[in-house]
Amino acid sequence: VTGQLLDSLQRPLRDLRISVTDRCNFRCVYCMPKEIFDQNYRYLPHADLLSFEEITRLARIFVAHGVKKIRLTGGEPLLRKNIEQLISMLSGLRTQDGSPIDLSLTTNGSLLAKKAVSLKNAGLGRVTVSLDAISDEIFKRMNDVDYSVDQVLAGIAAAEAAGLGPVKVNMVVKAGINDSQIVPMAEYFKHSAHILRFIEYMDVGASNGWRMGEVVTADQILQRLQQAGMLLTALDANYAGETARRWKHQQYAGEIGIISSVTQAFCGDCSRIRLSTEGQLYTCLFATRGYDLRPLLRAARVSSDQELANGIAGVWQQRDDRYSELRSSGLSTPTSADKKIEMSYIGG
Ligand code: GTP
Ligand code: 5AD
Ligand code: SF4
Ligand code: SF4
Repeated sequence: VTGQLLDSLQRPLRDLRISVTDRCNFRCVYCMPKEIFDQNYRYLPHADLLSFEEITRLARIFVAHGVKKIRLTGGEPLLRKNIEQLISMLSGLRTQDGSPIDLSLTTNGSLLAKKAVSLKNAGLGRVTVSLDAISDEIFKRMNDVDYSVDQVLAGIAAAEAAGLGPVKVNMVVKAGINDSQIVPMAEYFKHSAHILRFIEYMDVGASNGWRMGEVVTADQILQRLQQAGMLLTALDANYAGETARRWKHQQYAGEIGIISSVTQAFCGDCSRIRLSTEGQLYTCLFATRGYDLRPLLRAARVSSDQELANGIAGVWQQRDDRYSELRSSGLSTPTSADKKIEMSYIGG
């Protein structure tokens, strides 16, 4: 296998996101609304989950194809049993020039205070924590399971102390529910080394009843911060294809990011591929259909690494996804709402 694999729009494959469970202990209104994710919801049966050996085998092939970043997601990835073991297997992977990969994880923070040290010891590089409000009342309205802000803040602090920082804090903004928290969140984090990122509410999945009217746009978010007297200076992107536009507080240490997936799509440099919990490969967050890798992994005659590598290369080389760009330019998207995969299934 050789590096530099390009898709049909000349985008390299750099970033692999692995969902390790479709379950979560939160019911965020924009992701796993309670009416749908109730006790009758059918999560994946355990036998369908990829094993850690299968995940690591695939990850090694992706790294050989040029992947430099691996992010573990869910659902809530820390709910997956022995996740530390998977992390230590993945942290052993090396790129072709021998450097370690950028290994990170996106979590709701609920188990972080307990697990930060063991995650770090297993070889995790950094974490991103979702936190949608600094007011307890509003946060509880967002997570819908009565989880309090302090517990997440304790998780963030534990991650920082364990050396998993700088921690990125993700806030999805939904109009009328938590947009009053934009300024308070920025105020709260402006002194800290954590990077606060505001995310436009996206039309991902088929459960959240998304409407454009509930999106607070990146421009509006920026405006609200500036109207509150915050002096922000634009920073350059850290790397091509970065999801966030970066801003620095002029008077304070903190950095802010705004992720405008809806109003200013960033498909042009999208180098991300996603592996679902049960081995489906998705070339876009808004895909309706994945490529099932399990037949290759589990057939009576197990495929060789070379066969797997060829299969994966073929999927990437055919890729022409740019859902968000098409949607925002008013062109029709190939996706009908009822078939889109859920964020809780494929991860952020
Ligand atoms: P790093 O820069 O490596 O820290 O990661 P990141 O910026 O990709 O961060 P993260 O994984 O936390 O993603 C942040 C949010 O951006 C996600 O929760 C999604 O809402 C959004 N996002 C990430 N990747 C994509 C993507 O490929 N397409 C779209 N439309 N949105 C994305
Ligand atoms: N729009 C934007 N971001 C979302 N996330 C989940 N659902 C959505 C959505 N509809 C984010 C979470 C978390 C990451 C896993 O994805 O807030 O930061
Ligand atoms: Fe769980 Fe994250 Fe979805 Fe919230 S956004 S329900 S924490 S997976
Ligand atoms: Fe990538 Fe699809 Fe997101 Fe565009 S919409 S940035 S192609 S995952």
